[in-house]
Amino acid sequence: MKFCVTTPIYYINGEPHIGHAYASIAADILARFKRFDGHEVHFSTGTDEHGIKVARSAEAAAMDVQKFSDIMSQKFRDLGGYINLSQDDFIRTTEERHILSSQTLWRQMEKDIYKDSYSGWYSARDEEYVPEEDVVDGKAPSGAPVEWMEEESYFFRLSAYQDKLLELYEKNPDFIAPVSRRNEVVSFVKSGLRDLSISRSKFDWGIPIPDAPGHVMYVWVDALTNYITSLGFPENISRVSEMMENCVHVVGKEILRFHAVYWPAFLMSAGITLPKRIFAHGWWTSEGQKMSKSIGNVVEPQKTVEKYGLDPVRYFLFREIRFGEDGDFSEKALQRRISYDLANDLGNLVQRVLAFVQKIGGLRANYDFGTDERPLFEDSRNLVKKLRILVDKQDLYGALEAIWQLVSASNRFVNDMKPWELAKDDENRLNAVLTALCEGIRAIGFGIAPFMPDTGRKIFDFLNLEGKSFGEIETNFMDQTFPPPFPLFPKE
Ligand code: MSP
Repeated sequence: MKFCVTTPIYYINGEPHIGHAYASIAADILARFKRFDGHEVHFSTGTDEHGIKVARSAEAAAMDVQKFSDIMSQKFRDLGGYINLSQDDFIRTTEERHILSSQTLWRQMEKDIYKDSYSGWYSARDEEYVPEEDVVDGKAPSGAPVEWMEEESYFFRLSAYQDKLLELYEKNPDFIAPVSRRNEVVSFVKSGLRDLSISRSKFDWGIPIPDAPGHVMYVWVDALTNYITSLGFPENISRVSEMMENCVHVVGKEILRFHAVYWPAFLMSAGITLPKRIFAHGWWTSEGQKMSKSIGNVVEPQKTVEKYGLDPVRYFLFREIRFGEDGDFSEKALQRRISYDLANDLGNLVQRVLAFVQKIGGLRANYDFGTDERPLFEDSRNLVKKLRILVDKQDLYGALEAIWQLVSASNRFVNDMKPWELAKDDENRLNAVLTALCEGIRAIGFGIAPFMPDTGRKIFDFLNLEGKSFGEIETNFMDQTFPPPFPLFPKE
């Protein structure tokens, strides 16, 4: 089975922050899960380097724009290191392969492209045209200033795709998720689509339009194309098709319209396979307020990871709020999650069970599961099946919830069965209890590994599972000895 997942490609006008890390970690969790589950995965991320916004930032920094792009793009590549991304490709829109790919896509859409002149408002910060009726006090709905633009431009016949798009959403109810976002897009398209200006002529930091000197592509045309460039467009069209039909684009809610309206229209026009799903996530505030440089509350991924450790941060981001909703990042909430969910619930469970197994010299063969052990054993075997369903819906919060139900059930089981008492006179029972608990810990390890890769690996090491995948979840623990455990989340 194939699986493809993408992050938005990031504008390089500023430093990476937690919003960028969030989308990237989400995509990484999906990619890792599918790899464990035996899929062939393509996971791409990268940087969006053209457009007025980047050109102006380079100018403000008094730097050559390509040099500026090289330096800033590297910061996003480095971010991938701090947050342990397992991407297969990091794409930059200034690369030769991408220029060729965007120009090829343009040619394939040519039947829907015509030349005219554009006049209207533009928000450089959002890299977006703003309809007259949406401009209030010289500002776009996002609060960004707008400027008047008048120039010769190529247009894409988006209006011709209104019915086709509505049919697409109708026939594929899961094309846009979550459902509340889908409804927003549907009503936007129903309200009528205008043709889209897709080139700029008063400005040159972009991909040249084939045979049209003086015109460069509107940055969003080039940006969206990154997804197929990364899959090998235009040379490898069969790979593009087979991956796109299994592809989930993870995007923030404010860029959903580009992905769920413009992008499928471009692809339909060019005759290229559409992605499977566009998943829009929400936004983080910081300590109760919108993140902003002037307030000084921007959550910096590198610093946060240095202070709290990477796995706790990755866990927090997907446990604190349901993926798709907005939420607030606060250090107190993060600290609470670390001490309750990670150290107390998960860390203690693993430590006390495996230390006990050590103490008795390993698990022995002579056990029978009784009615007490069976439910835990079965819940453990069922966890992966449950996670598959949740992860296919990008319900990362639900997945963590399901894993923690097993953590709690296992902790309760230790308390109820009191292995330290069984050790005195019932060796068979003790083995059954500890084996059921090890089954639980193994399932938990597989479940959390995509979210917390280092912690997952430690659990695999404790249970001699390194290099194993979900397929081996059903192997037997008979006659196993394990290396000594150590605390997963030590308290300072
Ligand atoms: N370059 C475009 C995307 C092109 S994709 C073909 C872009 N870049 S961006 O750098 O401005 O934003 C990238 C992502 O970061 C967006 O999906 C956005 O939702 C996300 N976030 C930015 N701030 C955020 C928060 N405060 N919280 C969560 N995500 C946020 O848009």
